[in-house]
Amino acid sequence: MSPFKTPVATSADSRDHRGAWCNHLPFGIIPDIMDIVILLGAPGSGKGTVAAALAGRGGSFNHVSTGELLRAAVAKGTPAGVEAKSYMDSGSLVPDAVVAQMVKDVVDAASGDAATMLLDGFPRNLAQAEILEKMGAPVKKAVLIDVPDGIIQDRIAGRRTCPKCKAGYHVKNLPPKVEGVCDKCGAQLTVRKDDNPETVRDRLAVYHRETEPLVAFYENKGLLARIDGTRGVEATCKAFVEAAGLK
Ligand code: AP5
Repeated sequence: MSPFKTPVATSADSRDHRGAWCNHLPFGIIPDIMDIVILLGAPGSGKGTVAAALAGRGGSFNHVSTGELLRAAVAKGTPAGVEAKSYMDSGSLVPDAVVAQMVKDVVDAASGDAATMLLDGFPRNLAQAEILEKMGAPVKKAVLIDVPDGIIQDRIAGRRTCPKCKAGYHVKNLPPKVEGVCDKCGAQLTVRKDDNPETVRDRLAVYHRETEPLVAFYENKGLLARIDGTRGVEATCKAFVEAAGLK
C-alpha cells in the first residue's frame, strides 16, 4: 500500500471554529521530521497531476491540496465550506484564516506520518507564506511548474475530475479508457464548477497578482526551483522529483 496519503479532509471538516489562532500563532507546530515541498504554479499548471502521479509510484509523501480540502468542506456544508464557497465560485482567494486553519489541522493530524509533505495550493500569497514560516515549517523547496497562460485555458477546458475518488483526467492529454468514466472507480466524470472560461480568467489574474510574488519570495531565500510544465506528465513529474530532491 502506498504510504502517500490523498488529501486529508476529515480534520478540516470537523472543525467548528476558525481563524482565531492566526492572530496568536503557536510556533513550531510542524514536526521536525517532516520536510515541506511547495508546489507553485498557475491554475491548471499540473500541480494536482504531478502529486497524483507521484502517489501512484509510492514514496513517503503526504499530499495536502487546499483546493481539495476546501471542495470537501463545501460539499459537506461545514462552516468553513459555507464561508469559502462564494470565493471559490468567483475564482477569488478564500480568506487566509480559513485556509490556514485547515492546513494547521491537517499538519497536526499528519504528525510523523511521512517524511515529506507536498503542499499544493498553499501558500497562495505572501501573508500565507508568512503564516507558514510562523508555523515553523521546514520548507525544503518551492517548485514552480511553469506553464504560459495560453496553454492554461486549454488544459482547464479539457479537465475532467472524478467526484468520488478525485482522480484527474484531460479529454485529450490524459483521457480515461472509457469516455466520461473514471478508470479507477467507475464514477461519471464531472467538470469543476470554477473551470468555466470567465472564472479561469479571474483565477489567472488572481494568480499573477497574489501568488506570483511568492516566486521572488522563495527565490530570495534560495529555495526556488523552476520546471517546464509544458511537456508531458511523465517528463514534468521526472523534472519535479529532481527539482524537489525527492527520491
Ligand atoms: P485549487 O484546487 O488549488 O485550484 P488551482 O490552483 O486553480 O489549481 P487547479 O486545481 O485548477 O490546477 P492544477 O495545477 O492542480 O492542475 P491539474 O493537475 O488539475 O483551488 C481552487 C480554489 O480554492 C481557488 O481558486 C481558491 O478559491 C481556493 N483556494 C485554494 N487554496 C487556497 C489558498 N491557499 N488560499 C485561498 N484560497 C484557496 O491539471 C489541469 C489539467 O491539465 C488536467 O486536465 C490535467 O490532466 C492536465 N495536465 C496536467 N499536467 C499536464 C501535462 N504536463 N501535460 C498535459 N496535460 C496536463
